[in-house]
Amino acid sequence: MKIGQHLLANRLFVAPMAGVTDRPFRQLCKKLGAGYAVSEMIASNALLWKSEKTQRRANHEGEFNPIAVQIAGADPQMMAAAAQLNRDNGAQIIDINMGCPAKKVCNVAAGSALLRDEPLVQQILEAVVQAVGVGPDAIPVTLKIRTGWDRENKNAIAVAQLAEKAGISMLTVHGRTRADLYHGEAEYETITAVKNSVAIPVVANGDITTPEKAALVLQVTGADAIMIGRAAQGRPWIFREIDYFLKTGDKLPTPQINEIQEIMNSHLIDHYEFYGEYVGLRTARKHIGWYCKGLRDSHAFRQRMNTADDCKAQLQMVNDFFTEMKSHSDRLLFLEAA
Ligand SMILES: Cc1cc2nc3c(=O)[nH]c(=O)nc-3n(C[C@H](O)[C@H](O)[C@H](O)COP(=O)(O)O)c2cc1C
Repeated sequence: MKIGQHLLANRLFVAPMAGVTDRPFRQLCKKLGAGYAVSEMIASNALLWKSEKTQRRANHEGEFNPIAVQIAGADPQMMAAAAQLNRDNGAQIIDINMGCPAKKVCNVAAGSALLRDEPLVQQILEAVVQAVGVGPDAIPVTLKIRTGWDRENKNAIAVAQLAEKAGISMLTVHGRTRADLYHGEAEYETITAVKNSVAIPVVANGDITTPEKAALVLQVTGADAIMIGRAAQGRPWIFREIDYFLKTGDKLPTPQINEIQEIMNSHLIDHYEFYGEYVGLRTARKHIGWYCKGLRDSHAFRQRMNTADDCKAQLQMVNDFFTEMKSHSDRLLFLEAA
């Protein structure tokens, strides 16, 4: 699987998730078998570029290649400028977000809200490709969409063809409409139809939660790759499980609690270092919650853990909880419940 000149280790992608797929989490997923990861979106509004949040999102130090940065916005010239800025800052691939239904994005008619304005979609794609996708320093520009604005207006095929014509190198389709938000189940018929209507690589996304589902989605859609978001939260080893299943048809044994504890420790230490004490303590809580989901007494543990007032104490609480867990359970208790 290639995106432009970048050869990827496999066809298992980490979905961009704002507030989740920061650099430490992307690195971890890649170490555990993901072939590619896209950063959290960066607003194209220049006024926000200097904010601490954007600066952090644009920090790619030590990131495994290729570095893919997602940009969001509705103004073609601002999007073009944002693409250039990110390329200058080390991005090797620019991904355009037309898939996110988040209010913050849609209020300015960006993200998936753009899907109902195909002429504007075309202008944005052309402006970004023109800005960074042509010439001697060209880098690939990719696009992420939903199947349409709502179920009566599924225009993914039209947008895909527009994208291909504009010079987009790869298209990811989340099998829901903008109006669906995250309700119901993702459908793959539209992704199959998109795959059959363009020659550029197509990535299938939405509700891929197990190795079996991954194999099924690849088979029914004919997609070139699959992208996994929520199922990797607190379970970043899902990529190696899927990879193994796709290669061998067999399932890997579930990780032991010992290994989960090691993964979590290295994740949290990276996380604290990346965010610093104040933000690190607070933003680590959601990851810890995901790792512990389904474990015995995890609800009470989470409440306790939220009272830790520094990162060291938080990490100690997590380790105490896992040590306690190991004293009266094996790996199955964790994974069956999760
Ligand atoms: C917390 C969260 C944040 C997200 N942020 C983004 C984002 O910044 N850009 C984007 O294109 N999609 C974003 N998404 C959508 C995901 O990339 C993905 O398309 C969606 O979660 C469906 O895949 P899944 O079923 O594997 O989670 C986000 C999803 C979640 C749950």
